[in-house]
Amino acid sequence: MKVLVAYASSEGQTRRIARHVADRLADQGHAVELLQAEDGTETDLARFDRVIVAASIHIGHYQKSLGRFIAEQAGALAGKPSLFLSVSLAAAGHEAEDWRSLAQILADFEKATGWTPGHAEQIAGAYRPSQYDVVTRFVMRRILARKDPEADLEADKDYTDWPALDTLVDSWLTGPA
Ligand SMILES: Cc1cc2nc3c(=O)[nH]c(=O)nc-3n(C[C@H](O)[C@H](O)[C@H](O)COP(=O)(O)O)c2cc1C
Repeated sequence: MKVLVAYASSEGQTRRIARHVADRLADQGHAVELLQAEDGTETDLARFDRVIVAASIHIGHYQKSLGRFIAEQAGALAGKPSLFLSVSLAAAGHEAEDWRSLAQILADFEKATGWTPGHAEQIAGAYRPSQYDVVTRFVMRRILARKDPEADLEADKDYTDWPALDTLVDSWLTGPA
C-alpha cells in the first residue's frame, strides 16, 4: 500500500511520531513518504492509497502550516482514507475538561478546514524544557507541575504511548478504507 505521512511539529515530538509511524509501515513492506506539511502543498495525493496527518497543539491550535496544507489538499483529501493524530500534553492526562477542550479544538479545526479525517486520535506528546525559551519554560513548568506533580520540571519527558500508537496505526491500516 502507498501511504503518505504528513506532519507539522514545533518542538519535534510530532516529527518523532510521524517518523516512527513511517518507519514501521516501511518495515511492514508499505511504500511510505514522510512529508513536512509546509513542504507539501504541491504533493500529488492521488499517488497514495491512504494518508496519515499528524500535528501538535500550541495554545489551543494546530500549526498554521497544517491548515495551509489541508486547505491546498482539500479536494484530494476528500474521500481518501485518512487518520489524523492530534498531539498534545492534555492527552497525557485524564482530566475531563482537558479532553473536552481537545475535542473542541479538533471540531474547530474540522470546521475551519472543511476536512473531516476518516479517523482521529488524541496522542500524548512530550514536555521538552530543553527546547523552550525562557518565557515558554516558565509557562510550561506551571502547566506540567499541575498535570504531573511527580515530574522533574527540569527534564524532558516523553508521554507518548508508543506501543499503543503502533496498535492504533496497524489496526487503522488493516481496517476498512
Ligand atoms: C508554547 C506551547 C503551548 C502549548 N499549548 C498546548 C495546549 O494548548 N494544549 C495542550 O494540550 N498542549 C499544549 N502544549 C504541549 C504540546 O502540544 C506538546 O508539547 C507536544 O508534544 C508538542 O509537539 P511538537 O514537539 O511536535 O510540537 C504546548 C506546548 C508549548 C511549548
